Amino acid sequence: MNKNFYITTPIYYPSGKPHMGHAYSSIIADIFARFKRLEGFDVFFLTGTDEHGLKIQREAEKNKKDPKVFCDDLSLSFKDLTKILHLSNNDFIRTTEKRHFKSVQEIWQRLENSGDIYLDKYRGWYSVSDEAYYDEDEITEENGKKISISSGSTVDWVEEESYFFKLSAWSNKLLELYRSNDDFILPTSRKNEVIKFVERGLKDLSVSRTSFSWGIPVPKNKKHVIYVWLDALTNYISALNFPNEKDQNFQKFWPASVHIIGKDILRFHAIYWPAFLLAAKLPVPKRVFGHGWILSDDKKMSKSLGNILDPIEIIKDYGVDQLRYYLVKEVSLGNDGSVSMQNLTNCINNDLANNYGNLCQRVFSFIKKNCSNKIPKPNKLDEIDEKFLNKLKNNTSNLITLMNKQNLNEFIKIVVSYSFDANKYFNDAEPWAKKKDDPERMESILFVICEQIKNISILLSPIIPVATEKVLKIMNLNIKKLSLDDIQNMKNFNHDKELNKLDILFSKIEK
Ligand code: ME8
Ligand code: MG
Repeated sequence: MNKNFYITTPIYYPSGKPHMGHAYSSIIADIFARFKRLEGFDVFFLTGTDEHGLKIQREAEKNKKDPKVFCDDLSLSFKDLTKILHLSNNDFIRTTEKRHFKSVQEIWQRLENSGDIYLDKYRGWYSVSDEAYYDEDEITEENGKKISISSGSTVDWVEEESYFFKLSAWSNKLLELYRSNDDFILPTSRKNEVIKFVERGLKDLSVSRTSFSWGIPVPKNKKHVIYVWLDALTNYISALNFPNEKDQNFQKFWPASVHIIGKDILRFHAIYWPAFLLAAKLPVPKRVFGHGWILSDDKKMSKSLGNILDPIEIIKDYGVDQLRYYLVKEVSLGNDGSVSMQNLTNCINNDLANNYGNLCQRVFSFIKKNCSNKIPKPNKLDEIDEKFLNKLKNNTSNLITLMNKQNLNEFIKIVVSYSFDANKYFNDAEPWAKKKDDPERMESILFVICEQIKNISILLSPIIPVATEKVLKIMNLNIKKLSLDDIQNMKNFNHDKELNKLDILFSKIEK
């Protein structure tokens, strides 16, 4: 079996500082990347910034900066965010890099060679904010201004010479792709949306602009810059050293296993991107997963509404695991979901501090007091121990399936329930009551609970990497050397070594 896995986030516009929505997509992608590594896959995880186009050019002008200098600055804050969020990305691509430039010009050349590109004139609506063309029936008027119905952003009338991509010619091939591969677009509701849109018939797509210059020039016609979405989407193969298709990374990781994106950019990823690739005679990605919106107090987070939660501020105040856990626990992946400080506090206290954190705290301090600070060897396991451990162990393949379908919420629910169960097991087994009369039983209980803390920590490590690393380290284990195969292997502990010092894992938040 091919054990390579390639996962991407959108490459974000560095037109402003990163916000919670960006953090959300990146955290989700990171969780799946980490999980696949635990599963023993060779993972390539890519993120980056999308730096060309009119949106960026205008923003740079507003700030009286050269666009490249402007992007250097803001791209750096996106790169910093990867560190702050503890992302495990293997690469960070910027579309202003040479490697990308080469790759985009090659794609263009292939589309031209295959006869999929022709010169004409574009007359229609364009949203600079979305970098998207809209049809008349996708536009409405509000306060005397024309706006896009789907995004609400202002559109301008554009008339200019432009190259077109023969998108209309690819409708049937695209429909075939969606129908023959049920998981190409997830969640399924999104897939149906896309199919309906394509069934209505696709128009050819304008793929170059002449009224500004901030972009990658069309080969052999420098008057035109390549449409920023054709430019941006190509990042996913530039990072694998395309056009060198013999390159090891391209060989191993293309086609991508999954592009994680927000539903706002589904059309670009599920329609344009596979059409470009088909025309260029390249394999299409295996999956596009479009998640929902993060809302703040039930409204879409936006600068004008002033309801933006800053991920960096929250991490400073509460911690990175806390934010990561909260976002993916509270928001059902695929749907829109509200976030609020109140819910964040409850979630940290209930799930992290009182449940997993408390479990580790009490078990480790008991071992310190009663077992010379060493994890005891198991003596004889009772039926109750076996039942307790097997419940998790026997469900591992189900958990893997859930994650492979991006069913993250169900995964978390189950893993957290194991942590509740573990607290209950510890209470019911009462090792403190066995200490005097049956110390062997006490030792077995402690071994079993440590084994389960290890199992739960492995499963939670993609979501809360910092705390789980600490917990495993207390038990003299290293997450980098563990995998899903270590779940209940009963042989990971060194029983002669003392536990490492126990820090507070999650402080409770005062309300
Ligand atoms: O669209 N909730 O970049 P972008 C959830 N450069 N996710 C959100 C969000 C929210 N409120 N706001 C943003 C672009 N996102 C292009 C992408 S890819 C080849 C080019 C996330 O900076 C979500 O993933 O506008 C969304 O699709 C993305 O950020 C848009 O980021
Ligand atoms: Mg956007």
